[in-house]
This record gives sequence, structure tokens and C-alpha cells, in this order.
Amino acid sequence: MSTASLLELAKVFAITSRDLVKIAAAFQKDMESGLACQHRSLKMLPSYLTKPGGEETGLFVALDFGGTNIRAQVVELAGRRWEIKQQRVQLLKDAAAMYDYTSTTTKAEALFDFIAAAIAAVVEPGRDYFLGHTFSFPCQQQSFNQAMLLSWTKEISTTGVEGEDVNQLLTAALLRRGLDKVTPCVILNDTVGTLMAGAYLDARASIGTICGTGHNTCYYDPSAYGAPMIINIESGNFNGVPCTRYDSQLDAASDKPGSQLLEKMVAGRYLGEIVRLAANDAIGLTLPPLSFTAERLAAVLSGAFDGILTELELTKKQQLAEISRLVVERSARLAAATYAGVLRHIDSEVRREHIIAVDGSLFEKMPGYSAAMNRALGEVLGSKSHQVKVSLTKDGSGAGAAIAAAAILKKQRCRP
Ligand code: BGC
Repeated sequence: MSTASLLELAKVFAITSRDLVKIAAAFQKDMESGLACQHRSLKMLPSYLTKPGGEETGLFVALDFGGTNIRAQVVELAGRRWEIKQQRVQLLKDAAAMYDYTSTTTKAEALFDFIAAAIAAVVEPGRDYFLGHTFSFPCQQQSFNQAMLLSWTKEISTTGVEGEDVNQLLTAALLRRGLDKVTPCVILNDTVGTLMAGAYLDARASIGTICGTGHNTCYYDPSAYGAPMIINIESGNFNGVPCTRYDSQLDAASDKPGSQLLEKMVAGRYLGEIVRLAANDAIGLTLPPLSFTAERLAAVLSGAFDGILTELELTKKQQLAEISRLVVERSARLAAATYAGVLRHIDSEVRREHIIAVDGSLFEKMPGYSAAMNRALGEVLGSKSHQVKVSLTKDGSGAGAAIAAAAILKKQRCRP
């Protein structure tokens, strides 16, 4: 490949400072139309949860159902800190163990029985527990303990869950398993869990976000739905960023073409595939579909080339690393632009201090990711950027489920 085509790719994936400002403004506008229930790409889903006070305590079960695995935990809250006492992590699909709970061939009942088994592995038999459930998919909620799955994302397609009340599916599976002493009392998105955990640690947290297998953001709104509440933006569905030809190819081959367009440019589930499509096209590689995972992408960025990549000549390795860097940088810059849009919505002049609580392997582990995000925030917020801090809230989505359960119980006990 000539240097010119690498330069061309650099242009294709570039998000300039001006683009950042434009995307932030478009995102803010779409949030506002979403809140006004106008046609929009952002769903702005109510959570019926506010930020915790920080003094919540007790022992809870947290179930974190993400895109890649499920985590069942027993979490002890001790006021502004937590400790994971027990944990069981299970992949949702495992080729070696020959199971896959994410495909259309699996029914809801089987999936939730699998989850109940993980919960059974961490609880003490006969002991009463309240359970907080972090469910990382778009849900329409009527209250904090009822959530109807609108549609699967992240290429999951288990049958019989869309349109159903996820809390009821879990409750029924717990009963089938004999876990009648475990009471699911709250269900929340993982971004909401992350913000709950961030705010438990520091009251300045106002935004929660996931940069992992999937991507999404929520924020604390004091009044939009008539009461203070955290709102799940479902930002992954934002459609205000022009697609490159590689994004369009990826989208066309996905489970749900036309949906989750921002997520398909930002999230770990998709980044390797974009690099693969660009590298096959521009530098003549012949990598097969889905062979270039986010883990491989991270390895390439750290200079490690495994499997078929070991065979590549040095120049191709360098070019592949450069394309990887462009795609990862674009992801971090796009996410930062949307955070700027949220900040402008909640505090137009950014007069207050804000913490953006972030969880997810992409932010935590992808080489260069957090630095690129901070650079972009600096560009888009200018002199206000010192007011905003992006803070890794590790395991926040799981701990957030326990914190949400504690906050709900506290509120109910305080009710006259
Ligand atoms: C889902 C969101 C979730 C995000 C991060 C997206 O695919 O639609 O609800 O918060 O992934 O897990």
C-alpha cells in the first residue's frame, strides 16, 4: 500500500476539533428532542432512580448481565466503599464448553435458568437477600423494578426476551431454582449502575458511561421527567455521525442493520471488525470475518502479533498497527464528543465540576484510549475542561446494582 492510501484512511477516520464541536451540538439537540418525545435516535429512557447519598450499607446480591458474560456477586456496602464477597463469572457463550445462550436457538427460560445457577453459586442457602440487577440493554421502565426489553443489541438474539419484563423472567427462574429467598428489587442499565457507583464514591459524578463490548451513556437530570432521575440515553443508537464505507459494510452484515450506528463505531464488539475491513481493503490483507477481536486489536497496539499476524512482513505489521490506532482514536473522540453534548445539556457553561464515571474494558485496557478521550475533551470543552474529570469506576456496573438495591430499600423504609 502506498503512503497515500494510509493518508487517505487517516482522513476517512479523522474526527477533527470542528467535528467534535458539531457532533456534541447534534447530540445535545437529539437528547432534547428525545426528552420532548419527538422523532429521535436517542431514546432517553427513565430509570426511576436518583443518585445515592453515599451512606447506603448492607449485604446484597448484584447480578451484572453484560454483553459478554454474566457476573453474580455478593457485595457488601460499607458507605462510600464496597467489597465483593463472592463472585461467579460465566461466559454467555463458550465454544469449548459447547454452549451459546446468545443465539436465536436459545429460549429465554434456558438463559434465565443459566443465570439463576450462577446466583445459586454465590448465595448462602436459606439466607434472605435483596438483589439488584444490572441489565445492559435498552429497556422501557415503568418503575425501578420493572423493565421491558425493547430490543437486543450487541448481536445477541436469544428468543423470547424482547418485549418481556426482564425482572419477571429472572424472578420465575429464581423460583424454579428454589431461590425464593433472593428477591430482585431493582433493575437498571449498566450505565446507570456505573453512575450510581461513581456518585456513591463522589457526589460530583453526573454522567455514567460504558466503553466496553457495548457503548452507552446516562446522566443525572434534576427535572426532565418531573422528578430528579438518572436517564439512560441509549447513546449507542445516535445516528448523527457520517458512516465511512467500512462502517456501512459492518452495519449491513450485522444482526440489526441501521440501528446502534454510534455503538458500531465506538464499542469493543465492533472495533476489530472495522480495522479488519479497512486493512483488507487498503493494505491487501485477507483476514477472515470476525477474526480480528478487540483483544487482538489491543495486542497489535502494544506491538504483539499472534497467529496469522506473526507471518506478516514488517511494513504490513506497521500499517495494521497504524490503522488500529486510527480506529481506536476515532472511537475515543466520538465518545468524548457525546459527553460534551451531555455536559452542555446539563450545565451549558460547564460552571460546576463534573465526574464522568466510566466502566468497561475498552476504556480500561485499550492502549491509548483514555489519553485520546481526554485530549478530545480538552479540545471540545476548551477553557472549561478543567471542570470535567473522566474517572474509571471499576466494576461500577455490578456494585451499582447493589447500591441501587440499598438506596431503594432505604427510601421504602423512610416512607411514612
Ligand atoms: C446497550 C446499552 C448498554 C451498552 C453497554 C448497548 O448495546 O444498548 O443498554 O448500556 O450496550 O453495555
